[in-house]
Amino acid sequence: MKIVTKEKTITSSKEAKDFLGKYGLYAEFWEPEEVDPSISDALVRFKSQIEKLKKKFGYASADVCELNTKSPNLDKILEPFMKEHHHTDDEVRFTAEGEGIFGINPLVDPPFKIYVEKGDLLVVPANTRHWFELTEKKNIQCIRVFKENPKWEAIY
Ligand code: LAC
Ligand code: NI
Repeated sequence: MKIVTKEKTITSSKEAKDFLGKYGLYAEFWEPEEVDPSISDALVRFKSQIEKLKKKFGYASADVCELNTKSPNLDKILEPFMKEHHHTDDEVRFTAEGEGIFGINPLVDPPFKIYVEKGDLLVVPANTRHWFELTEKKNIQCIRVFKENPKWEAIY
């Protein structure tokens, strides 16, 4: 994880967590479990961390979401994500492969960017203004964790 603000770039995990905490965001850094490396299912490789997270925040389910150059209509899919919006539920994303950029507009301070990579969990709390973009690699595999009936309609 790397955070780029108007004033500085943060690369240390501890500093990143502290910085995000000031704006109500939450991060963790996960290592895959010691499972058979041929198991490609992210939900299996990160099972125990997902379960812990669900208990901690009261989330109920998880799924995997992939975006890459093979995704049909990639640009169309990304278009709404790239516009600043918020949700009335938390947006919880764990990057299992690839990378992405979350833009955050805390309103009280200038917007900043969070570059997420393999192993990064990010919780963008409900009502936080944000957007999402891919890096030039155009490849991410994410685990999304959510409540039973998630309200993640984007409010622009
Ligand atoms: C979403 C992200 C990508 O709304 O912001 O799913
Ligand atoms: Ni969103």
